[in-house]
Amino acid sequence: MMGTKFLQWDLVPIPLMQFKKVNVRRLQRWLLKLASAILMEPLYMGLRRRLGEPFTRRLQMEQSKERTYFTQERKKRKKRTSSERTVVFESLQLGSTFHRPELVRNCLEQSLKKLKFDYLDLFIIHIPVSLKPGPDLSPMDENGKLIFDIVDLRQTWEAMEACKDAGLVKSIGVSNFNRRQLEMILNKPGLKYKPVLNQVECHPYLNQSKLLAFCKSKDILLEAYCALGSQRDKMWIDQSTPVLLEDPVLGAIAKKYNRSPALVALRYQLQRGIVVLFKSFTRKRIEENFQVFDFQLSEEDMKTIDGLNKNLRYLSLIQLVDHPQFPFKDE
Ligand SMILES: NC(=O)c1ccc[n+]([C@@H]2O[C@H](COP(=O)([O-])OP(=O)(O)OC[C@H]3O[C@@H](n4cnc5c(N)ncnc54)[C@H](OP(=O)(O)O)[C@@H]3O)[C@@H](O)[C@H]2O)c1
Repeated sequence: MMGTKFLQWDLVPIPLMQFKKVNVRRLQRWLLKLASAILMEPLYMGLRRRLGEPFTRRLQMEQSKERTYFTQERKKRKKRTSSERTVVFESLQLGSTFHRPELVRNCLEQSLKKLKFDYLDLFIIHIPVSLKPGPDLSPMDENGKLIFDIVDLRQTWEAMEACKDAGLVKSIGVSNFNRRQLEMILNKPGLKYKPVLNQVECHPYLNQSKLLAFCKSKDILLEAYCALGSQRDKMWIDQSTPVLLEDPVLGAIAKKYNRSPALVALRYQLQRGIVVLFKSFTRKRIEENFQVFDFQLSEEDMKTIDGLNKNLRYLSLIQLVDHPQFPFKDE
């Protein structure tokens, strides 16, 4: 759909409080700083010990960047007309601390309230790994280790189905599910709605051809994230991994079509029947990326890009590897 914007909110639920007067907001900021100095520092100690100071500082910076973005979006939203709402595809992820079925609807309703929406277009389970419920989105023990929870994701899925039945979401899906985990949902007795899509890491270095074939056979869309090789954030990505957009083969193909390697990487996914997410904070690049609809890669070039696959996962989520539901041990 040309001209449609796809927005994905990365924090669930949005940890923002609403205050009407500026002076109250200032007071809130000051109190938060004080509270964080007194309470949060000891809580982060374990994390610091494990991952080092830069991780914590980076995490705080990321959270404040997200908060600023949400505040700006909420301000704009007040001015949006209902007809504009129809051309924006809004999707949201269910965080790992909300997998218990009794928490799902409440999590969604809180987010809808803060976004000032009546419904969402898409609601997905972010990752099939459950974490301890509570106010902390990344609950950690005193050693800085994430605290796991065990939830039957079929029950989580039933709660997602109930959200759809209640008209709070148009479609429901999953993310980071492997084939076995998708089958677990698809084979659930009494399944009402199957996932419309599975959002997974997918790019020329991890082309997910087997998972793609399986999803197609079940009429589930595969949606690619890290399609441009990720933002290479030091907090999550091993910096020694090769930079996708610097790949010489991708570069040569890009030159041939007089396009950028980024556009070739995006176009590759579209031609495979994949929904592709691309993120940029740069206006020029956002505009450039929409040229993905303006050209076509030949079959031969598609095959050449297929040949770049090395099953390289940028976002390995190593912190979750010990969880019994960890998805990346099989395809
Ligand atoms: N479900 C999950 O577990 C999961 C995990 C990760 C991400 N995601 C989603 O995936 C979406 C995409 O993010 P991502 O992290 O996967 O990143 P990505 O789209 O692979 O890459 C984004 C990076 O590419 C750069 N870029 C964008 N357009 C470019 C162009 N034309 N030429 C050169 N560089 C370009 C951006 O830089 P500039 O900003 O400087 O332009 C940014 O650093 C996010 O919105 C996120 O919600 C989901």
